[in-house]
Amino acid sequence: MAAHDETRLESPLGKSTIRFAPIAGLAEAADPGRAVVVADALSASLVPPGFSRDRIAIVARGEEAKSLAWLERLFAAFLELGVTREWTVAAVGGGSVCDLAGFAAATWMRGLDTVLAPTTLLAMVDASVGGKNGIDFRGIKNLVGSFALPRLVLMDTAALEGLPEADLARGLSEAVKHGILDGREHFSLVERAVDPAGRVLRDALGPVIRASVRCKAALAMADADERGDRRLLNLGHSYGHAIESVSGLPHGDCVAAGLGCALRLGLERGGSPADAERAIGLLGRLGLPTGIEAARLASGSGLDGTAFRAAVASALGSDKKRSGDCILFALPLGLGSVRVESIPLPELEEFARRAP
Ligand SMILES: NC(=O)c1ccc[n+]([C@@H]2O[C@H](COP(=O)([O-])OP(=O)(O)OC[C@H]3O[C@@H](n4cnc5c(N)ncnc54)[C@H](O)[C@@H]3O)[C@@H](O)[C@H]2O)c1
Repeated sequence: MAAHDETRLESPLGKSTIRFAPIAGLAEAADPGRAVVVADALSASLVPPGFSRDRIAIVARGEEAKSLAWLERLFAAFLELGVTREWTVAAVGGGSVCDLAGFAAATWMRGLDTVLAPTTLLAMVDASVGGKNGIDFRGIKNLVGSFALPRLVLMDTAALEGLPEADLARGLSEAVKHGILDGREHFSLVERAVDPAGRVLRDALGPVIRASVRCKAALAMADADERGDRRLLNLGHSYGHAIESVSGLPHGDCVAAGLGCALRLGLERGGSPADAERAIGLLGRLGLPTGIEAARLASGSGLDGTAFRAAVASALGSDKKRSGDCILFALPLGLGSVRVESIPLPELEEFARRAP
């Protein structure tokens, strides 16, 4: 294996390897005789031969899988299969499958070995990196979860061949976030992966994924349990998660809308207009919603503009970065210039009621 095909991570959480290699390697990475594979009905088709079908636990597709109900079904499957601490949990799927399987693995018998094989762009650039996992509870995103590094993440960009264009665009929203955090060079790399008509150039995705992995891994490993700079990775997610709770839109759409909100708030607090326009322009070119109203329209929500905004404002209070009456908010002021600021919740709510 060429050294440049692997990134090794080390933090107080443990060690992890991110390997760019065919998904067929999963059968070597996890002994099929002592592995349970977690996948959804679609991603199961990407599980390589060698894993017997009765050891593949199929969960719901999309966000629905990140629930107590599916966690319980997964635990029931572990019990039936006789999964013990010698076993490996292998997740094959998007961010929802990785988050659920990672949490089940981290808590079953106080922690099992985990291997992730992400199959969406969003899971490759973000969800499979850094060791966070979890499920939603009572409509609040990721309220229950843990930090636990997978032993191995197997990135196979060939798995993206069947991924619809809209899901590629959604995945790029997290890559845009990393580009804003990292600076112009990284941001330009993401820009070059999108043609003038807004189509994602599949051949350009390898370097984009690698740049995201480097950026996220550096921040996550330096601050494993998120008490400092790792909070920067929450860029776009305070508004994004609130919009997701209210609209039910896919995560990538909500991250784009949340980034639009954060960039516009940054503008009111001294941010660079040219950089904000460039970032919002790229998200818009990808066909993603770039604000609260666009998210409302995309969601087909029955709520009118005022009610939708009020619901988003109210959902902001459930942000996990809340500290007393403030939220530790990742405020973008330009490409490569983002700082975490403690912003009073009422100010963020007020902005939600009038932001585009
Ligand atoms: N843990 C983290 O650090 C972290 C970071 C970012 C996002 N997330 C989470 O990730 C989730 C979103 O993940 P996602 O965007 O990957 O969506 P997803 O996992 O919900 O999957 C979306 C859809 O893509 C389908 N799919 C999966 N692989 C496919 C393939 N190769 N070809 C065609 N279709 C495929 C799935 O069946 C599903 O219907 C959210 O719950 C979000 O909170 C977690």
